[in-house]
Amino acid sequence: MTTTEGNSVKFESRITFYVVLCWILAAFGGLMFGYDIGISGGVTGMDGFLIKFFPNVYRRKLKAKEDNYCKYDDQYLQLFTSSLYLAALISSFPASKVCTKYGRKPTILSASVFFLLGSGLSAGAHQIWMLILGRISLGFGVGFGNEAVPLFLSEIAPVEYRGAVNILFQLLITIGILIANLVNYGTSKVHPWGWRLSLGLAAIPATGLFIGSLIIPETPTSLVERNHEEKGRKTLKKIRGVENVDPEFEQIKVACEIARRVKYPYRNLMKISSMPPLIIGIVLQVFQQFTGINAIMFYAPILFQTVGFKNDASLLSAIITGLVNVFCTLVSIYAVDKVGRRLLLLQACVQMFVSQTAIGGILLANLKSTNSLPKGQAWVVVVLVCVYVSSFAWSWGPLGWLIPSETFPLETRTAGFAFAVSSNMLFTFVIAQSFLSMMCHMRAGIFFFFAGWIVIMGIFVLFLLPETKGVAIDEMKERVWKKHPIWKKFMGDDADDRAKKTIEMS
Ligand code: BGC
Repeated sequence: MTTTEGNSVKFESRITFYVVLCWILAAFGGLMFGYDIGISGGVTGMDGFLIKFFPNVYRRKLKAKEDNYCKYDDQYLQLFTSSLYLAALISSFPASKVCTKYGRKPTILSASVFFLLGSGLSAGAHQIWMLILGRISLGFGVGFGNEAVPLFLSEIAPVEYRGAVNILFQLLITIGILIANLVNYGTSKVHPWGWRLSLGLAAIPATGLFIGSLIIPETPTSLVERNHEEKGRKTLKKIRGVENVDPEFEQIKVACEIARRVKYPYRNLMKISSMPPLIIGIVLQVFQQFTGINAIMFYAPILFQTVGFKNDASLLSAIITGLVNVFCTLVSIYAVDKVGRRLLLLQACVQMFVSQTAIGGILLANLKSTNSLPKGQAWVVVVLVCVYVSSFAWSWGPLGWLIPSETFPLETRTAGFAFAVSSNMLFTFVIAQSFLSMMCHMRAGIFFFFAGWIVIMGIFVLFLLPETKGVAIDEMKERVWKKHPIWKKFMGDDADDRAKKTIEMS
């Protein structure tokens, strides 16, 4: 039966075994991304890896006199982590083309091949160029995977589960990071080639994704988009497990027709009235990275070594932060539609500000160039990192992705979201490539630097981010943008015409 609740239509559907199987198979895409995020920090701290590729860093690490904050400051070492995100950024544009032109399934298949190639190359690397080439291939995998997997997951989900499925992708990323931390803990004991195991084990989720991409169907939306209507209807029946899919199928057809009529989505995105969601989509991603989260996700083991833990204890601490990350993402799934987006983001700003300044304060007062923190204080730093990560995990982590996915109108949704994804990759690259050098130059000040950004983020949310909780996507313009004291100026029906006239007159 098709029912209507308020403005949103509920279609007849069941959660079929087939849909669950598809989710599980595609989930390997999220795990793979998380694994790549989490694995590099532990690997860059392993002696066997440093001796082979970065002997200078290894020598510095051994010297007792070496400056705590600068031991790991090496452009190439940072490039090992960051090259992946640069490749992901570059490949996200061809990936979005492949995804529209050939469908989600071949895009996911390509991602898995890149992942397999990348894990083989980096695990078997004998020279640094092989290592970087491997990371670039993994980056292509992330670019292709992150374009197609979230889209695939939400397109096959029954409408009422789409929001939750969106956060599920973030949950998978955090689980991937945690698995990577656990793997690093185990392989660090396999000297001198444990790092090869860490990098090579990425082949397991990659194989899962590869097999999955052969089994999953193409999504009905993508089939209709590419003029395979009958096949689209059949697939929809199969994944919904019911005979009457006509109302939902009609809606997919209408949506595809509207999207098809928009010949130039990127030009549309430049219209004045598209600015509010575009600005918010990009700014949230930039801010998400300037919370400093990836300084922790990529380099936690190194950070914990810096404050004085031995290799083992620092990897263990990374596992603890990884666990906190997973559990607090679960909190977000529960809270996002109850508490609302703004409150979660603002609360997290306060919590992140307090924990970052406290970490900065402890290091400033007690961690000089060549000493280490007393044990108790080092553990306080671990606890503060957990406090910080927990608030990120229930707010800026998932919401940085959720808000851009729900605020664009259909005509500009994929183009707008592609901008958000590439801004994320660009700034993830910036942080990965610069954090260790920034720590060397700014020392404890690096934590105050991130805390400063958090204040700016809080002010932005307070004045410029409207609440989108409980608003259907097609009501955004009327109920959200046109009601906001600042953004409404961009929204008048004639805002674009006025802008055109001003340009013509000048
Ligand atoms: C961010 C990643 C980050 C992860 C941590 C994601 O939302 O985009 O950069 O590493 O959260 O859980």
